[in-house]
Amino acid sequence: MENVTAPKRTRRGFLGVLIMLGSLAASYGTAAAYVLGFVYPKRRDILRQRVYVTDLATLKREGQKTFRDAQGREAVLIEASDGLRAISTTCTHLGCRSLWQAEHNTFHCPCHDATFDADGNVVSGPPPRPLNRYEVVQQGEAIFVIMEV
Ligand code: FES
Repeated sequence: MENVTAPKRTRRGFLGVLIMLGSLAASYGTAAAYVLGFVYPKRRDILRQRVYVTDLATLKREGQKTFRDAQGREAVLIEASDGLRAISTTCTHLGCRSLWQAEHNTFHCPCHDATFDADGNVVSGPPPRPLNRYEVVQQGEAIFVIMEV
């Protein structure tokens, strides 16, 4: 008859297995959390913020007011023939700076000779879409622009 001894089960061995299983669970859990965060990213809430730009008297005196949006892009507040507009000056073709031409009630991009109307819509030239617009809020004499941050 063969003398086979069963492995000795000790308290130290049991604790070692327990620690190893706990460590595996912690590391796989962390990896799973990162993978899930990558596959299902948290939705970033878009906050709308009202930003003071100028007052009506200053706008009438100067004709336009240049400001920067929350991302630092330049935009201009204008008084078109039918109301106030806040429009990005970044051309939607290749990103050149378009200029407001009050005498023509249009924006002009000098890079490829594009023209946009006072609402930012493309009138001529290669831009694929209108200039970005911002909502304008007038409260008494103060003029605000609504920006997404
Ligand atoms: S960048 Fe404005 S028309 Fe090309």
